[in-house]
Amino acid sequence: MRRRNKTMNQTTETVRLGALISTSQKKILKQKMKLDKRYSFLAALAAEASESPNLTLYFFSPEDVDVTSGDIHKALYWDRENNKWYECSAPSPEVVYERIYVKNELVDRVRTFFSDNNVPFINARANFNKLICHQKLSEDVKTSPYLPPAIEVRKIEDIHRFLKVHDVIYLKKVISSLGKGVIKLEKTAENSIKYSYYKSRLRTQTVKSIYDLKPVLHRFFHNKTYIAQRGIPLIKIGDQSIDFRAEVQRGKNGIIISGVCARAGLKNSPITVHSTAMPYELFLKEHLHYSEQNIKNTVLKVEEFLTTIYSSLEDAYGPFGEIGIDFGIDTNRDIWFIEANSKSAKVSFEKSYGDAGLRENAFHLLEYAESLHQKEPAQEG
Ligand SMILES: Nc1ncnc2c1ncn2[C@@H]1O[C@H](COP(=O)(O)OP(=O)(O)O)[C@@H](O)[C@H]1O
Ligand SMILES: [Mg+2]
Repeated sequence: MRRRNKTMNQTTETVRLGALISTSQKKILKQKMKLDKRYSFLAALAAEASESPNLTLYFFSPEDVDVTSGDIHKALYWDRENNKWYECSAPSPEVVYERIYVKNELVDRVRTFFSDNNVPFINARANFNKLICHQKLSEDVKTSPYLPPAIEVRKIEDIHRFLKVHDVIYLKKVISSLGKGVIKLEKTAENSIKYSYYKSRLRTQTVKSIYDLKPVLHRFFHNKTYIAQRGIPLIKIGDQSIDFRAEVQRGKNGIIISGVCARAGLKNSPITVHSTAMPYELFLKEHLHYSEQNIKNTVLKVEEFLTTIYSSLEDAYGPFGEIGIDFGIDTNRDIWFIEANSKSAKVSFEKSYGDAGLRENAFHLLEYAESLHQKEPAQEG
């Protein structure tokens, strides 16, 4: 007989999936998830889980975890019947989905607790370090042709040398997101260097010498590690650069490409964040006027690229339930890897594929969570 736990509607046979978020994310989720597009996916996940007979989902913060027993206090779960969030206590999750962006000792402690107790995570890594990721993918002959050359910057001379070989380069913090840690450098005809980055608005300046950049870079990067990556001559629509975000997942029978979005940046912006987005097949047709045959060929090339990158990342780091992959297509139609994301907010994905797309993506994620739980005894044995 299925026993029901009154507080959470959990049956004894269901898998407990815990989504790890911060206290402030929890607050936003509870109060105004409909208003904030960065929460749409979590809301879709909660809705999808509330219809799943095999799985119970709750959201919790590091502060909610009793790290001796694993019990969770003040977790948040979505009640479909009442259309409402409820707070509840729950036993330790059996699978963890990490969506927290803050880094501190408590988060580490909670992570360690789950690892020590063999609680599987949806993703093998909470984030990708752009330098290490580049190094790992360059060791794989299948993925190295997709990588723009990149180096770690230790001193200003490294940039100087890199700029001698490449006219346009991107400097990027090894761990960052939303284009916040990215500066574009371009050599100009007068041998000056133009730099641009986006902070509240587009900021562009030109300096005469590489040494004039020193204070700028010091302010921007502080003591953070960063890389220089060759600039990809991205396809453009007018003054807007175009790049792509793919949402890729591990499904029951292999890798699923849930959607690929074309993103158009603001005019002259070095990044395509704060952008409009649409499914890339539609973009190729409507904006680049590709023929049906050209679209088919491009889709095949992109799918080959995405599955190759995904498998290589799994070989290097371990299994992933989902990865957001950023890539560019250049003016020769070659495909280039930009970076991988292990906690995609799926904002462009929602703009392109709507709520139905989010729900389907959530469905696959939940299926993957169940499969991880089923695998667990075999791993222990
Ligand atoms: N090598 C590059 N060539 C061209 N554009 C780039 C390059 N690297 C980054 N960009 C642009 O900057 C954006 C942000 O860079 P990305 O590496 O994805 O960092 P973030 O972690 O901030 O998303 C990309 O989506 C792309 O538009
Ligand atoms: Mg990115």
